[in-house]
Amino acid sequence: MLIRRSTDILPSEITTESQYNSRRDWLKAAGAMGLIAGLPALSARDAQAQAGKLAGVKPNAAYGLPDGEKLNKFDELKNYCNFYEFGTDKTDPPANAKSLKTRPWTVAVEGEVLKPKVFDIDELFKLAPLEERIYRFRCVEAWSMVVPWVGFPLSALINAVQPKGNAKFVEFVTLADKAQMPGLRAGVLDWPYTEGLRMDEAMHPLTLLTLGAFGEALPNQNGAPIRMTIPWKYGFKGGKSIVKIRFVEKEPRTAWVKAGPSEYGFYSNVNPTVDHARWTQATERRLGEFGKRKSLMFNGYTDQVASMYTGMDLKKFF
Ligand code: MTE
Repeated sequence: MLIRRSTDILPSEITTESQYNSRRDWLKAAGAMGLIAGLPALSARDAQAQAGKLAGVKPNAAYGLPDGEKLNKFDELKNYCNFYEFGTDKTDPPANAKSLKTRPWTVAVEGEVLKPKVFDIDELFKLAPLEERIYRFRCVEAWSMVVPWVGFPLSALINAVQPKGNAKFVEFVTLADKAQMPGLRAGVLDWPYTEGLRMDEAMHPLTLLTLGAFGEALPNQNGAPIRMTIPWKYGFKGGKSIVKIRFVEKEPRTAWVKAGPSEYGFYSNVNPTVDHARWTQATERRLGEFGKRKSLMFNGYTDQVASMYTGMDLKKFF
């Protein structure tokens, strides 16, 4: 992956965390007091629209703020991005992704499934209850954030299309439209950007089909209208602006594995003991902090995910 010197966020750009938290607190308190449930539907909708929220999102208490962590700011997520279809600098996607058209949008779910289907994006928003989950997010370039994502487990979609017994992997294909994505002119990757998971990883309850962040629909530069978040893996496993999900028998060759097989593996689990060919993975810089902190095995999700890799040499299957 190309690596650049970090462009730090201007203090003047950081304004939204307290607003976000106070909206959250207000909505939670109002919900607890029965204010929202007790009001006519229109008022509840108005309250949410006023707060810029996605409707009907419930914080999932099992994925609250991890111990000792602090949320990053929405502006940090929005302004420090990797989305090479819009350019390779961290500030290119916020500048260039404004023109991404996210409606109409469909996601074709196909391959080794009994019920292949082309989903309209608005149908996907209703496929399962929308949850807010706070996950650590670790980029392979050794920076990280703590983000409240909105979505639902990918397993809900997988169960809806009923994979056949020979579906062993899931491949994610993302939009590659030259008319909208100036970065496609550069041959940085073999477009479209593709990613993949083994079936048990795809079915894992942590694997989140992501439709929003900080209570709002995803900003274009963060992968609107639909992306993946797999919190124990490096961030590049989470393809942005997905248009196709394919169930396949063989391990798919992903865009980064094609670009640099010695540097990027299929699994890409966060692993502080396996360095990237060009830099250490033992430490990371949390956006908004000075200095470095130690990286955590599986990004801190060992208890939930390690059993999927029992018996595998994680230096070989990096
Ligand atoms: N998806 C697409 N389609 N194109 C990309 O360049 N970059 C990946 C991932 N998904 C990328 C992508 C990388 S390297 C990271 S770290 C995350 O998106 C960054 O997500 P964020 O910018 O929303 O933090």
